[in-house]
Amino acid sequence: MKILITGANGMLAKSVISKLKSGNELICTDAAELDITNKEAVVSAVKELNPDYIINCAAYTAVDKAEENYDLAEKVNADGPGNLAYAANLVDATLVHVSTDYVFDGELDVQKSYKETDEVGPVTVYGITKLHGEEQVQKDTDKYYIFRTAWLYGDGNNFVRTMLKLGKEREEVSVVADQHGSPTYAEDLANIIAEAINKKIPYGIYHSTNQGFTTWYEFTKKIYELAKIDCKITPVTSEEFVRPAKRPKNSQLSKEKLLNENINIPSWEDGLARYLKNEL
Ligand SMILES: NC(=O)c1ccc[n+]([C@@H]2O[C@H](COP(=O)([O-])OP(=O)(O)OC[C@H]3O[C@@H](n4cnc5c(N)ncnc54)[C@H](OP(=O)(O)O)[C@@H]3O)[C@@H](O)[C@H]2O)c1
Repeated sequence: MKILITGANGMLAKSVISKLKSGNELICTDAAELDITNKEAVVSAVKELNPDYIINCAAYTAVDKAEENYDLAEKVNADGPGNLAYAANLVDATLVHVSTDYVFDGELDVQKSYKETDEVGPVTVYGITKLHGEEQVQKDTDKYYIFRTAWLYGDGNNFVRTMLKLGKEREEVSVVADQHGSPTYAEDLANIIAEAINKKIPYGIYHSTNQGFTTWYEFTKKIYELAKIDCKITPVTSEEFVRPAKRPKNSQLSKEKLLNENINIPSWEDGLARYLKNEL
């Protein structure tokens, strides 16, 4: 298959590329080579390349900075996927797009997890612009997958790397203990994307994180346990750790729909153990 990958220097892109490079013809483009906000450039590249799939790994992911950069976030997270969907439709390619739990308000009872059909209601600029991206994709093509993920880590700046660094430098760290979600290894998400394409599962939105739920506090405990780091972890509340963009209390996404398609989804503990084997 011929696959065009955008945002090729990003964290998820690196895993997607390594997962799909054998047996496929990959055309990997970074922001300088293909700016997804430039509709003319996108249409011209897609027409010329005529790919079977476009995998959009490009995004404006600086959640806090986005609060003061609405226009840029909207261009990259909404207009960009819209341009790709428009171009994909012209050549009958399938668009794979990646979205986020931030399309929800995060206020769901933590005993429950969000389904794909649950009402959206983003409360941050990042979440609003990512939701607009989903809407633009759905408006411009029927042949799309939208994989909503959360708490992603891999080959790039991420929570695990930050905590490993802090754990070695400090005697104590404070970590939020009232936000619930699923840490997701980029390799496992890349595998979900590859399996979905290979199995040709029905088009649509899929919640796509590792299995199981935890909190940032418990996640940190597991990181330090596996990495054998001796550092005191103090649980704090979201109110004690205010950030420019409000963080969801509940980021838990139900994977029932994906599991019904027989897609393999490892647990977050399993993903973390494999990641740390490479990272340490
Ligand atoms: N990271 C998470 O925790 C998380 C959670 C939920 C969902 N997601 C979603 O998962 C996807 C992948 O995230 P990630 O963490 O891999 O992101 P990332 O590492 O920040 O990578 C995003 C890439 O997009 C590129 N980019 C930015 N603007 C562009 C443009 N106009 N045209 C082309 N490329 C552009 C960036 O290039 P430059 O660096 O050169 O700007 C960067 O390489 C995104 O859709 C994100 O919203 C991530």
